Amino acid sequence: MINFKDIEIKDLCFTPFILRDELLGRIQEIAIRINDEYKDKNPLFICVLNGSFMFASDLMKQIDLQSEIKFISLSSYDGVKSTGKIKENFGFGKWVSDRHIIILEDIIDTGNTMNYLLKNIQQWDPASVEVATLFLKNECLDYDLDLKYIGFEIPNKFIVGYGLDYDGIGRNYQDVYQLK
Ligand code: IMP
Ligand code: MG
Repeated sequence: MINFKDIEIKDLCFTPFILRDELLGRIQEIAIRINDEYKDKNPLFICVLNGSFMFASDLMKQIDLQSEIKFISLSSYDGVKSTGKIKENFGFGKWVSDRHIIILEDIIDTGNTMNYLLKNIQQWDPASVEVATLFLKNECLDYDLDLKYIGFEIPNKFIVGYGLDYDGIGRNYQDVYQLK
């Protein structure tokens, strides 16, 4: 069901921003590119939990290559602000070596998390590494990152829904909402 209404999470109010059909349309475009560019490469997708689970799920349904997916878990956010410190819950390992990696991320804000991931993954000697991020807050980026697949470039406003949370809440919505 499409919900055009504002939602309240704790002390904040969020308004509809990008609806499910637009999200799925864009994800399909990314999948078409990956299907074309990774033929015979047996790519290994790495989903960065928690926020990327819906993006990864909808993207993977459109991938028609022989491929694998694994999950890692990190966090750097506290409420609506990036803390700058990365907490690694479970990370990369030997399983990355010699593989063509596509990192699936929900959103890149300062780029601190992705910069950390890209530095770390190199230690395990992957054959190649590319990034697919559903959202990019371009104005916030503090690092020079090579981002191959970008879903939406968005302004510097906090968003929730479609996997993204505010203080753990709001991941379940199928649409994306922006802080009012
Ligand atoms: P960065 O390290 O500053 O790039 O932040 C990346 C992480 O912060 C993302 O993977 C998200 O988990 C979280 N994040 C950044 N912006 C938002 C947002 O607008 N809504 C929800 N989470 C966000
Ligand atoms: Mg994330």
